Amino acid sequence: MTKESLNPTSRWDAAAYATTGAFVPALGDAVLALLAPQTGERVLDVGCGDGALTARIAAAGAEVVGYDASESLVAAARARGLVVHLGDAARLPFDGEFDAVFSNAALHWMLDPGAVARGMFASLRPGGRLAVEFGGFGNIAAIRTALAATLARHGVHERPADQYYPTPPQYADVLRAAGFDEITTWLVPRPTLVAAGMVAWLETFRGGLLDALGVDGDERRAIFAETAELLEPALRAADGTWWADYVRIRATARRGGGEPPRHAAG
Ligand SMILES: C[S@@+](CC[C@H](N)C(=O)[O-])C[C@H]1O[C@@H](n2cnc3c(N)ncnc32)[C@H](O)[C@@H]1O
Repeated sequence: MTKESLNPTSRWDAAAYATTGAFVPALGDAVLALLAPQTGERVLDVGCGDGALTARIAAAGAEVVGYDASESLVAAARARGLVVHLGDAARLPFDGEFDAVFSNAALHWMLDPGAVARGMFASLRPGGRLAVEFGGFGNIAAIRTALAATLARHGVHERPADQYYPTPPQYADVLRAAGFDEITTWLVPRPTLVAAGMVAWLETFRGGLLDALGVDGDERRAIFAETAELLEPALRAADGTWWADYVRIRATARRGGGEPPRHAAG
């Protein structure tokens, strides 16, 4: 895996994800229902993380393979006894061998969505299906705005591209260009309780951004604390609980029976 092609802000620690990030797979029922895994079929889980949902697909009787770029999370998934490949999903190596491709909360971390979609298409057998959910247009808009304002206050005006949050028509175009048929894409606003609090959320999900910017120590703590302070009127409920302003995009599609489209190299 060439690290240069990966999103530099996608940085994960399995122990922190298992606590602060546990709500992510816990809220995966809707996309699992879209997948509806069947006994004996082969499923690829793209960006499987620590394998919490991958294990549920296996428990449904499917033969599931995980694929993820984080060494820490891949180790955690393998510790569950799952088959997981370590690699960049923009370069999936599979050829027509899966009945279904699944993904939860991962595709927005991948900055070349066309390459990922082409790889997911190629991984499917003709007639195979796609069921995915990830961050959609408007996802965590208040959090991103507050963090950008705080970073600017600290003199950071340039940030690396860190997320891909498409509209439904944009993502349908990506899937269509990759060769998919029967495409449906839609947004689901999903305010989400963040039991660990906003500062812990920021450390888990935006710690990688601050790492990429080289911000640590007291300044990092101050940036997260000030961001949470800015967000308090919008995202802290009267009972003191924090809610993240998540918007998900869901997509289903199918690989038709014909040959995949020819793509120019690059
Ligand atoms: C928020 S986690 C979601 C994990 C899991 N699907 C879940 O529902 O808990 C995002 C995952 O995407 C993975 N990821 C990000 N960029 C990737 C890439 N280019 N290739 C493969 N995995 C990637 C990360 O390593 C991380 O495990």
